[in-house]
Amino acid sequence: MDLKIWGCAVLFPVQILYCILKASVRWLLPCKRKDLGAEVVLITGGGRGIGRHLAKEFAKQGAKKVILWGRTEKCLKETCEEISMTGTECHYFVCDVGNREEVYQQAKVVREKVGDVTILINNAAVVHGKSLMNSDDDALLKTQHINTLGQFWTTKAFLPRMLELCNGHVVCINSILSLSSIPGAIDYCTSKASSFAFMESLTLGLLDCPGVGCTTVLPFHTDTEMFQGMRVRFPQLFPPLNPEIVAQRTVDAVRTNTAFVVLPWTMHILVILKSFLPQSALEEIYKFSGSYTCMNTFKGRT
Ligand SMILES: NC(=O)c1ccc[n+]([C@@H]2O[C@H](COP(=O)([O-])OP(=O)(O)OC[C@H]3O[C@@H](n4cnc5c(N)ncnc54)[C@H](OP(=O)(O)O)[C@@H]3O)[C@@H](O)[C@H]2O)c1
Repeated sequence: MDLKIWGCAVLFPVQILYCILKASVRWLLPCKRKDLGAEVVLITGGGRGIGRHLAKEFAKQGAKKVILWGRTEKCLKETCEEISMTGTECHYFVCDVGNREEVYQQAKVVREKVGDVTILINNAAVVHGKSLMNSDDDALLKTQHINTLGQFWTTKAFLPRMLELCNGHVVCINSILSLSSIPGAIDYCTSKASSFAFMESLTLGLLDCPGVGCTTVLPFHTDTEMFQGMRVRFPQLFPPLNPEIVAQRTVDAVRTNTAFVVLPWTMHILVILKSFLPQSALEEIYKFSGSYTCMNTFKGRT
């Protein structure tokens, strides 16, 4: 028995080294990508912004069917028509992901009309973009309902069938703000941090479920309508990401079964600095980079 424990203790660091080596090789060399030809992809908030680009990218990379959820029918219809014209079967359904009953009801409709969803993309989100004292309670609740709880409902609706089929993938379009908050978006940062914990827990919880994986994408500021008006101090140094690139990297992460993607990769530096720098030094970084005041000019969707 003692010998067994000693054996495990010696093997453990070797195992960790092997994992690091394997991940480095995967990062450097092209690896095998999952074929999407049999996959049915559902994207929440698929009518516009990053969601729209995700829908187009999944269709381009060969997904069998694409399903869009959102609240604004006009955007959903336009995106759906654009995708259908490329030859990929596309459907849309009006569904507010913050409304639990609506999610379960529409999930049933999707199963009956389109079939089993094998890739779920939790992308829908809102930002109220105010400090705690300037936010009314309803607005704060709405963000948590859509950004955090919405994922609970959609995942509960579609994951059981993925587990039965031993084929599925749950994706969360999160934000770098889940790991490093800014003032003036307290509702959003809180919801994204909670959503990160949800995905971390889910990813580990599914380790023993063959064929079912998770991906969490953590993008920096991206050029969509969501954060309109937000201004960083050095836009040349920290330009917003192109939503097309975010979509491409997300589809690639699903196809390579990558658990966490930080965009751009340089944001890892911020995460590392946060783990050891004193708070006073971090505050200077926030002030210098302008993230301390970036939400002062925030307009959001007009
Ligand atoms: N833009 C950025 O700088 C940035 C950075 C990092 C991460 N992200 C993340 O990327 C994702 C997409 O954001 P985006 O930039 O594309 O923002 P966006 O252009 O504002 O799009 C948000 C999408 O969510 C949908 N949505 C909002 N509330 C919904 C609800 N209750 N039910 C269903 N759909 C709903 C919207 O559609 P309807 O209005 O029609 O419902 C829209 O399609 C979000 O999770 C966001 O947090 C964005």
